[in-house]
Amino acid sequence: MSVTPSSPDLILANARLVLGDEVIHGALHVRDGRIAAIDPGPTAAADAIDCDGDLLIPGLIELHTDNLERHMQPRPGVDWPHMAAILAHDGELASTGITTVFDAMRVGSVFKTGSNRYGAYARALSQELLSIRAAGLLRISHFLHLRAEVCSETLTAELAEFTPEDRVGILSIMDHTPGQRQFRDMTKFRNYVQGKHRLSEAELSAHVDHLTATRARLGDAHEAEAVRNAGRLGAVLASHDDTTEAQVAVSHGHGVRLAEFPTTRVAAEACHGHGIAVMMGAPNLIRGGSHSGNVAAQELAETGLLDILSSDYVPSSLMTGAFRLAQLWDDLPRAIRTVTATPAEAAGLSDRGRLAPGLLADLVRVHPHPSVPVVRGVWSHGRQVA
Ligand SMILES: [Fe+2]
Repeated sequence: MSVTPSSPDLILANARLVLGDEVIHGALHVRDGRIAAIDPGPTAAADAIDCDGDLLIPGLIELHTDNLERHMQPRPGVDWPHMAAILAHDGELASTGITTVFDAMRVGSVFKTGSNRYGAYARALSQELLSIRAAGLLRISHFLHLRAEVCSETLTAELAEFTPEDRVGILSIMDHTPGQRQFRDMTKFRNYVQGKHRLSEAELSAHVDHLTATRARLGDAHEAEAVRNAGRLGAVLASHDDTTEAQVAVSHGHGVRLAEFPTTRVAAEACHGHGIAVMMGAPNLIRGGSHSGNVAAQELAETGLLDILSSDYVPSSLMTGAFRLAQLWDDLPRAIRTVTATPAEAAGLSDRGRLAPGLLADLVRVHPHPSVPVVRGVWSHGRQVA
């Protein structure tokens, strides 16, 4: 069956369309993978899909997820075949309404205490991801997000293995030295590391000493390398776990426009003072606080300091978190922007993130059940993927 160029490929009708700052009832037309038109009111087209009054929103954009790791290592010590892991991860994200993802991979390893489960893995894994993407086997759009760990032994060498052809989307500067930023509270650090790696007390102390010494020896040089490589690779530079005004000022000086998970209200305020968008974890919002004891996402949302949500380690939390914000703010379009238009802008993607003619037809049909929003249909570039 052929389709004439002028006929729409898909019409989603009887939907509540969530636009930038209003919700209208109507139909959305898709042609050649892009949004062709938005028509208010009822539609007479017989081949239209009846959305039954559900919400139709732009596909969600996830800038920072560790979810692929969970599929690669479904149990401690079990390394699952990577292609199967990547495909399962891709399908899981699609099912939760995410149509664009920046897959976070750590660069910069620490070997001495065996604390890293994979050692250096980002180059090999990203190669696998890029080749699966090039073969057209993925449901949604994937980009690379390199998490540059300053407190490591190998950051410079690992970054050097990436080239502009990899089209790295985001490079975030992380510093997970114990006793500061995410892990100011050493008890939380000990619990986190113990839970992940099951070290003895002596091993844990040696691990902390080694990380502290590594930071002192290489940290400043690594920070400069991370900034330089973001420019070389054409990636958006992000900060991570900024805690003090001084740290935010340094990030601003590096050219950062996106802050991942600032750990205090003071840092979030400083970000806004410098025009830096603040991203917080949706799990933090849903659980009512941070697992590392840092500032609550809800507090930042209530004070107008939360711009972007990230699903972090639970993909379905992105949609649920957005609907929590809609309740909190009594403003659905504003809440949906935190998972669509604003992350698109922060990541430099101008072809998606809003329901507007000409943009990619990345779309989600959602039934707003009072407990949890229910995803009823997902389209990526006009193709139904869930
Ligand atoms: Fe962190």
